[in-house]
Amino acid sequence: MKLSNDSTSGKWISGANFAIIVLTNPYFRFHLIDAGKVVQNMQLAAWNYGVGSALFTGIEEDRIRKDFSIPIEYKPVIVVGFGYPRKKIDGKTKKKNRLTMHELVSFEEYGKS
Ligand SMILES: Cc1cc2nc3c(=O)[nH]c(=O)nc-3n(C[C@H](O)[C@H](O)[C@H](O)COP(=O)(O)O)c2cc1C
Repeated sequence: MKLSNDSTSGKWISGANFAIIVLTNPYFRFHLIDAGKVVQNMQLAAWNYGVGSALFTGIEEDRIRKDFSIPIEYKPVIVVGFGYPRKKIDGKTKKKNRLTMHELVSFEEYGKS
């Protein structure tokens, strides 16, 4: 509940089974890339066990720092909530409307398929 109150775009986190606040050290130039990598690795590992996840980045920084005693040298950049999906996910579950490979990827030159 504390975490939910510290968010501007992820009030839903109060319904998660658990959550991870990802902290980075902005001293390192690519700290946000590192955060993205660690988040995706956690999401994929969780999904192997049928555990779903979602993210939020709308963080009330002063509040979250106080509530979770986050040291000043670390920045809370993204929060991941985990939990078992309410609905069973199976082969019949509606697929996301994703771009095809050819719409997304160019070969040799931008725009060429
Ligand atoms: C960098 C990043 C930031 C995000 N921030 C928020 C957020 O602040 N609040 C939120 O509800 N969802 C946030 N999302 C989650 C997206 O809304 C979510 O990925 C989207 O619902 C599609 O998820 P799915 O394709 O895994 O179903 C964020 C996603 C990414 C990649």
